[in-house]
Amino acid sequence: SDESSSSSPASPAPPSSHFIAKKDEIIRAGRVTKLVNGREVLVLHHDGVFHALDMRCYHSGGLLQYGDIEEFNGRLCIVCPWHKYKITLAEGENLYQAVDPKEKPPKPKWLSKGVKQRVHRAIEVEEDVFVRLNDAPGRIESDAYQTQHRAGKSQEK
Ligand code: FES
Repeated sequence: SDESSSSSPASPAPPSSHFIAKKDEIIRAGRVTKLVNGREVLVLHHDGVFHALDMRCYHSGGLLQYGDIEEFNGRLCIVCPWHKYKITLAEGENLYQAVDPKEKPPKPKWLSKGVKQRVHRAIEVEEDVFVRLNDAPGRIESDAYQTQHRAGKSQEK
């Protein structure tokens, strides 16, 4: 399934972006994975919107292209097939449910552990979809699964 796209863009690439595939190819497949500048990126189509994010789950490298898409607390998430972590498609935040044991009965509340998965920009130009990698500085946990383009590289001891 990877690198299966043999088409080429009909439109010029927006600045610093990379061609992924034709819109209708992605819509038909639902999801495509592609190496973008050495980074493994998942591009998916859901309810008329294209999303792009690191392909491997920040938690333990699960393959997000096999995850279900569901809404939690009004936010669209991809659910990692490995340990069911819920990652928002818009921001890459990990959502989880917390309970206050003093509450009787305890009512679970949705909270966020913050941005854990690097989310990229999917850009539509006419019939094509491009991705602009998110080069926000600092480490985002999913960077650990990418050997290229590691933002905020730290001195490892
Ligand atoms: Fe994704 Fe563990 S690898 S939840």
